[in-house]
Amino acid sequence: MKESSTNSIDPRAADGLPPGQAERRRFLTWLSVGLGGVCAALVGIPVVGFVLAPLLRKPAGQWRTVGKAADFAIGKTVNVVFEDPSPLPWAGVTARAAAWVRRESDERFIAFSVHCTHLGCPVRWMHDANLFLCPCHGGVYYQDGTVAAGPPPRPLFRYDVRVMNGEVQVKADAIPITTAL
Ligand code: FES
Repeated sequence: MKESSTNSIDPRAADGLPPGQAERRRFLTWLSVGLGGVCAALVGIPVVGFVLAPLLRKPAGQWRTVGKAADFAIGKTVNVVFEDPSPLPWAGVTARAAAWVRRESDERFIAFSVHCTHLGCPVRWMHDANLFLCPCHGGVYYQDGTVAAGPPPRPLFRYDVRVMNGEVQVKADAIPITTAL
């Protein structure tokens, strides 16, 4: 007697594919989903970091001690180093900032940004000439930071500076370093 075909199970009947192809399809589907998730994370994490970075940064405008007032001689201009108040976590040594501090009198100090106002190169204090010189394009500044020669369009930027408990403090703040800012 011939067996009825209605009792046999045709593997193609369930999902229209033989068992091997169905498993391969499921595997490729999950592989696609997984790779899509990895790609989304690779693109999304830097974007989220960029958006949140300003919120995670510490506020600028913090006073930084740069030395004892007694160590600054009147009429001298010296280089000081301090920590940037808003460093990025990955800033490394670039979180260090510098300034030229000049003691004008017992009570009066001036702190200049080291960045040339042309394109931001660090300027050098030439003690014998009483001038700041920029090595990049020959910018020259007088001892009060005003422009003497060359391409700089404006005087050196200044930081606020004060003396507290015998220590000289510079107010570390964001300084525009080029004419474009
Ligand atoms: S960066 Fe100083 S003169 Fe150009």
